[in-house]
This record gives sequence, C-alpha cells and structure tokens, in this order.
Amino acid sequence: MGILNSSIGRKFAMALSALFLMVFLLQHFAINILSVFSADAFNTASHFMGTFWAVQYLLQPILIFGVIFHFVMGFVLEIKNSRARKISYAKNNGGANSTWMSRNMIWSGAAILAFIILHFIDFWIPEINTKYILGDMSGMHNGELRYFHELVEKFHSPIRVTAYVVAFVFLALHLLHGFSSAFQSVGANNKYTEGLKKFAKVYAIGIPLGFIFIALFHHFTGH
Ligand code: HEM
Repeated sequence: MGILNSSIGRKFAMALSALFLMVFLLQHFAINILSVFSADAFNTASHFMGTFWAVQYLLQPILIFGVIFHFVMGFVLEIKNSRARKISYAKNNGGANSTWMSRNMIWSGAAILAFIILHFIDFWIPEINTKYILGDMSGMHNGELRYFHELVEKFHSPIRVTAYVVAFVFLALHLLHGFSSAFQSVGANNKYTEGLKKFAKVYAIGIPLGFIFIALFHHFTGH
C-alpha cells in the first residue's frame, strides 16, 4: 500500500488515525459524562448512538478499523524505530533530549490496548451480542432503557475501577506526547502551533481525568 511503504507515510497514517481516535474520545467522553448528571439523558443518548444506522453501520466499522490500524501500525513503527534507534543511540546518546512519554509510547500504548480488550469484554461485546446476535434493538430491560443500569453495575467492582483508572493514567501519558507529535507528523507547524500545543496538553490531561471522575463517581455513589 504506497503511503505505508515510506516511514513518513507510515507516520502520517499513524497521526491521522490518532487524530480520528481523539475525536472519538471527545464524543465518547461527552456521552459518558451524561451518566453522572442524568440517567435519562445518558440512556437516550446511548440508545440513539446504539441504534442510529449511520453510527452503527458507518462510523462504528470505521472506528474499529481505526483502533486496530492504530495499534498494529504503532507496533510496526516501534519495531522499525527500535532497530534504527539501536544504531543512532550508540553514536549520539539520543535518549538525552527525549521525554519519558515519547520513549515509552509503546508501553503506554500497550496499557491502553489491554484496557480496550477489557473494555470491549465489559461493554462493546455484550452490546453487539444483544443487538446483532440476540436481535434485540429495543434497548429495554424490565420496562426501562438498560444502558445506565448496565454502566453503573460495571463500576461496582473495585478491581475493574482500579484497572480503568490506571489505564486512564497511561492514556494521559500517551496523549501528552501523542497529541502534539501527531500534529507535527501531519505538518501542522504554523502560527497556531503554540495554541495547539496548549490545547493538546489540556485535552491530554482533561479527558483522561474526566474518565477517571466518571469511573470513581459511579463506584463511590453506586449510581
Ligand atoms: C469511564 C470511562 C468509560 C465509559 C463509562 C465507557 C463506556 C462505554 C460503553 C457503554 C460502550 C458501549 C457503547 C456501544 O457500543 O453502544 C463503550 C464502547 C467503547 N469504548 Fe468506552 N467507555 C469509557 C472509556 C473509554 C476509553 C478511555 C476508551 C479509549 C481509550 C474507550 C473506547 C471505547 C471503544 C473503542 C468502544 C467501542 C465503540 C463504541 O461502541 O463506541 N472507552 N464504552
């Protein structure tokens, strides 16, 4: 595939998938934070996203492809970079001017991958099973929309909540380097760069902190 044959092309494709996933995270946060303020609003939004054709048959397949592409390309780039790095580090101690976050993107990425696997087992696979295997698109359980109740139930377990919170800390570390480096890879070096960098930092800390708040809120309030 032409663009993926060059390292610049691979970095560009990686950055594009990263920017797409960050738009998804913002939307995902906006829907899930509703669960803290109003069970009805969360149920209505979840049922809309869970049944609207454009989301289910268009955006969701693109999202799942984006998630898989980002992880696979992340590992491919890391293997290629680590081979190249071995040579350059020996020559000029390249590690000196890079951050912990940039040197450990593969580990923060691996932690997020482990989270996604747990998260799919918790939420997405049961959702796909109910709607597309059992064929129940009603979203109802015991006469009411089921999404809020299912979410709150998941956050009863202190082990799951701890795993989610630890994963969200790694998500912040991954985004702190990933967001600004993605902008660089797509060539967004211009007069807005300083503003973009500030936005990237606020996003990289704010969104994971918001997800931590959602998980701890439901765990400690039980609703
Ligand atoms: C407290 C935090 C979170 C909650 C409560 C939450 C909740 C959910 C729920 C209920 C679903 C099923 C939606 C459906 O398929 O109808 C879902 C799916 C998903 N979540 Fe999360 N999520 C959280 C954090 C995250 C984070 C941090 C990521 C990424 C790093 C993420 C990635 C995904 C993906 C990729 C899907 C499958 C696609 C989708 O159906 O939207 N989630 N999540």
